[in-house]
Amino acid sequence: MKTPLVLVTAGPTRERIDPVRYISNYSTGTFGYKIAEEARDRGCRVVLITGPVSIESPSGVKTIHVESAVEMQKAVKAWANKADFIFMAAAVSDWRVRNSAKSKIKKNSEKVLLELKENPDILKTLGKSKTYLLVGFALETENLAGNAMKKLKSKGLDIIVANKLTKSYKLFGDNKIDVLLMDRHGASNLYKGLSKGKLAKIILDKAFSFDIK
Ligand code: CTP
Repeated sequence: MKTPLVLVTAGPTRERIDPVRYISNYSTGTFGYKIAEEARDRGCRVVLITGPVSIESPSGVKTIHVESAVEMQKAVKAWANKADFIFMAAAVSDWRVRNSAKSKIKKNSEKVLLELKENPDILKTLGKSKTYLLVGFALETENLAGNAMKKLKSKGLDIIVANKLTKSYKLFGDNKIDVLLMDRHGASNLYKGLSKGKLAKIILDKAFSFDIK
């Protein structure tokens, strides 16, 4: 049997304002890196496409560093049709700056207004014609199950990993979190207070045993 190729995205994207400033988010990349390492430990070939994080590149994993959402999309496109499984764990910025400045914007500039332009939805594009099992992630502040189900359907996913930003857990970094796992056959499971390492195992078990039909 052919060794499966697992494609994982991780971390935030950075959207440039000028040569020294950017817009981003609090993602640390931990979840995606744990999934990549777990897939490697199970003998898969792994490609990790990652935004800027402070985690070291895992050994035995082909790691591709990108900065912006557009760069991430380009790298994902180049690998997607070779993949058997795709885990889109990156926290892709929904917007980029329409006219990012070529030189540093000075403090005494008259009026600084950033106009934002929507970024491509990488996951949605991946869900259009699939030759792989597709796993998406959702970060919600309310209506976790409802919003996750909407994303599962609208983005053409097989499985969605949804987590809610609550006060009791710090979501970013290597912490214990609550996760709702839903699939397109209607199954759903809630996992409470597990580490991202443990959740990576559960997610891979689910993906590798998933009935793709
Ligand atoms: N995603 C993506 N491209 C984007 C935005 C999100 O591929 N431009 C992917 C993320 O990697 C994640 C999933 O879509 O797997 C859901 O991301 P999330 O931020 O929860 O939702 P959005 O689709 O951005 O919707 P909203 O921000 O309105 O909740």
